[in-house]
Amino acid sequence: MSLKKLSLTYIDEFGETCQADFNNHEYHSLMELLFDKYLQDWGDCKGRAWCGTCHIQLHSDRNLEKMDINEENTLSNITGRTKTSRLACQIPLDSNLDGIVFSILKDDAV
Ligand code: FES
Repeated sequence: MSLKKLSLTYIDEFGETCQADFNNHEYHSLMELLFDKYLQDWGDCKGRAWCGTCHIQLHSDRNLEKMDINEENTLSNITGRTKTSRLACQIPLDSNLDGIVFSILKDDAV
């Protein structure tokens, strides 16, 4: 049985559009996928929703898991927060993310 290859698109901090391929549940979270394969300089707190370095802005309308209180608190301390901001470490890496588009925002957590 072959698995369908999933992919997503992100716009990095330099404005470059990039594609990331992944398998369903290959990593625990979206942050872990990008940290391991594409972006080494984020995810400082290793997914605890504390640091804000995995701040992203979603451009796709998806029903993602609701924010918990830790994610909400960290995002509330980020100056560049947008209406569709999320922490990538709090988003499970599953097939729901296939085709999603988002921007990487530099963390400005205080
Ligand atoms: S890795 Fe620190 S908030 Fe996501």
